[in-house]
Amino acid sequence: MRYRGICLLFLLVIFGCAAIPKVADTEIQEAMRLTGVPAAGKVVYEKNCIYCHREKGEGGGVAVGTLERAMPKRDEDLYRAVKEGKGDWMPAFSKMTPKDTMDVIAYMRSLFEGK
Ligand code: HEC
Repeated sequence: MRYRGICLLFLLVIFGCAAIPKVADTEIQEAMRLTGVPAAGKVVYEKNCIYCHREKGEGGGVAVGTLERAMPKRDEDLYRAVKEGKGDWMPAFSKMTPKDTMDVIAYMRSLFEGK
């Protein structure tokens, strides 16, 4: 009987992962036509991301390195990372709108411009 709790936990983890929808290719294609606005992205970032990635994207915690190393990636890859999550600790912002996601990507890029 004491395994019941463990089994339930296991199932929760499995279904919890399955519940994160993959971003549809059509959504990506449409989102890539939007132009991210850094000033709008700052608001999204400060509300959702600053806790882990810190003010300038420098990170600091054990699992959170600087965002700078992700900046060579293409917008569509960053888009997927934000909406689907990454690794063990980067949460999936699956409900973030395409506009907010593109804005926050533009803001992250602006943090490292010219560096
Ligand atoms: C709970 C902490 C946490 C929050 C909140 C968080 N992140 Fe992350 N993020 C991480 C960690 C940890 C990683 C490193 C993941 C890895 O590569 O394993 C990461 C990685 C990333 C990456 C790099 C992905 C890649 O492909 O290398 C991007 C871009 C990113 N986060 C953007 C965001 C944005 C935008 C937000 C807010 C909407 C956000 N993060 C909120 C913890 C967080």
